[in-house]
Amino acid sequence: MSTRPATELFSEWATKNKDEGMERGHAASVKAMLDLALPRVSTPYSAVDVGCGNGWVCRALESGDACLRAVGVDGSKAMIEKAKTLGDGEFHLALLPDWKPTTPFDFLHSMEFLYYLHDPAAMLKILHDEWLNEAGVMVAGVDHYLENEDSHGWPEALTCAHDNAE
Ligand SMILES: C[S@@+](CC[C@H](N)C(=O)[O-])C[C@H]1O[C@@H](n2cnc3c(N)ncnc32)[C@H](O)[C@@H]1O
Repeated sequence: MSTRPATELFSEWATKNKDEGMERGHAASVKAMLDLALPRVSTPYSAVDVGCGNGWVCRALESGDACLRAVGVDGSKAMIEKAKTLGDGEFHLALLPDWKPTTPFDFLHSMEFLYYLHDPAAMLKILHDEWLNEAGVMVAGVDHYLENEDSHGWPEALTCAHDNAE
């Protein structure tokens, strides 16, 4: 099986507007995650979406009065370009874990991103130690895991490297 960086695959998705289907597919889970996490965040708050795709969660957060600033970070050039055309939010093109914000955030969101990394546990520690304020809150969604047998074929189906170092 040939593999390529996940960020390259997702740039292709953005070019083909497949990010819109992904947004629709993730919307219900993200709503449940936000409903769970946001009541625990002190307001007003700053937010970051790690692996933000086309930036739809940043736009949703910024539409609320309590959100001062929502920043999106993603390693896909086409996703970030698209995010910048869809609103006037702050988006950074960055291949993680090799980037960090200059100021930490009150709220960190991440949906279907962590398992693309070589070492998700190391990234979680970096996010906890360097991306979040002392009383910061993080919520992350992952649907690719051992007990979800339906997800085991995803790497092959997507023909992308789940280890971005490959
Ligand atoms: C399944 S998509 C989810 C996008 C978005 N969170 C959503 O729910 O629509 C995974 C995203 O993670 C990004 N990604 C994967 N590996 C990355 C890395 N090492 N650094 C930064 N972004 C990465 C991809 O470019 C892609 O946009």
